[in-house]
Amino acid sequence: MVAVFDAKPYDRDFLAPAFRRSGLEGRYLPSRLSAETVRLAEGAQAVCVFVHDDLSAEVVGELARMGVGIAALRCAGFNNVDLRAAHGRLHVVRVPAYSPHAVAEHAMAMVLTLNRKTHRAWLRTRDSNFALQGLLGFDLHSKTLGLVGAGRIGRAMAAIGRGFGMRVLVSDPFLDSAWATSAGVEGVTLDRLYEESDIISLHCPLTSETQGMIHAAAIARMKRGVMLINTGRGKLIDTRALLAGLKSGRIGAAGLDVYEEEERYFFEDFSASGIDDDVLARLTTFPNVLITSHQAFFTREAMEAIAATTAANLKAYFDGGPLPNEICLRCARDGDACPRAGARCF
Ligand code: NAI
Repeated sequence: MVAVFDAKPYDRDFLAPAFRRSGLEGRYLPSRLSAETVRLAEGAQAVCVFVHDDLSAEVVGELARMGVGIAALRCAGFNNVDLRAAHGRLHVVRVPAYSPHAVAEHAMAMVLTLNRKTHRAWLRTRDSNFALQGLLGFDLHSKTLGLVGAGRIGRAMAAIGRGFGMRVLVSDPFLDSAWATSAGVEGVTLDRLYEESDIISLHCPLTSETQGMIHAAAIARMKRGVMLINTGRGKLIDTRALLAGLKSGRIGAAGLDVYEEEERYFFEDFSASGIDDDVLARLTTFPNVLITSHQAFFTREAMEAIAATTAANLKAYFDGGPLPNEICLRCARDGDACPRAGARCF
């Protein structure tokens, strides 16, 4: 039995057939996994979780006590898991790649929307306002796109940028220079990327090293009017510094698919009650800020791939075989997420 936490109707639509094909039985729970809800996993041998489920030391300990042997993440990022606590008690598997194109295409959709202001044009023409004043954009061709992180998603984004005729800079401590040469992109330091990019898009994981990397001093190095896109993780950006940058005009536009306090709101409907997060509320007031609620992954192809890999990960566990997408827990010794996760260094 697999206890599937934070199960929305669309999760069930994709997971249930994949589980059936693999002979797995799912218990679909709308609640997120937390210290308060962990008891709902009673009787299950596995849990299946998503980005906002909490696998803190307390929850991991409780799962292990109940006899749950594996947590199958139906996502790539695993910053919500206390890996050190899981070591030796719980296998943790993930879906390392499902559709990098889904996320990169969403990042580019944000660039195009913010640049050509189609979100505003849509509102205007519905109100019979056909004026162009305030809708001026710029050619992407020949502009510089800076990508922080050149993994699967960063590379897909690089190809899209090159397709638009952009100069593409990448900053990645583990940059594959053979790929960079063949893709026609240039590996640079983070400082150079900040200084030369017209558009900066974040595609690195959240680690203790990258947390808050877009802070006031980093923003001060960027070109005036830079467009900042974040489909990585909300905590990569110090949101108060972002607000200051937007107010001063140093940041010309921001596309945010993730937000540092998103767990409280994203994936849920607060249209009737409103929100009490003043920072998020302030962000929604800028015409040059586009917020989407962690939907970059949300394509049919990605959901099918997530369901298929999650079912295969769980079936491998129940069959007693090796777990190909197991996260390296050894590197969690400092509480850090290993950047080589999945490379099986244990
Ligand atoms: P990946 O593991 O293929 O690539 C990550 C890259 O970042 C690696 O090349 C790594 O060397 C690099 N990196 C590590 N530390 C860095 C640093 N300090 N500076 C610059 N680069 C650094 O991961 P993938 O699939 O490309 O995903 C990237 C991130 O996107 C994930 O960690 C996840 O947080 C986020 N994501 C967001 C989704 C969404 O729906 N918004 C969906 C999927 C992933």
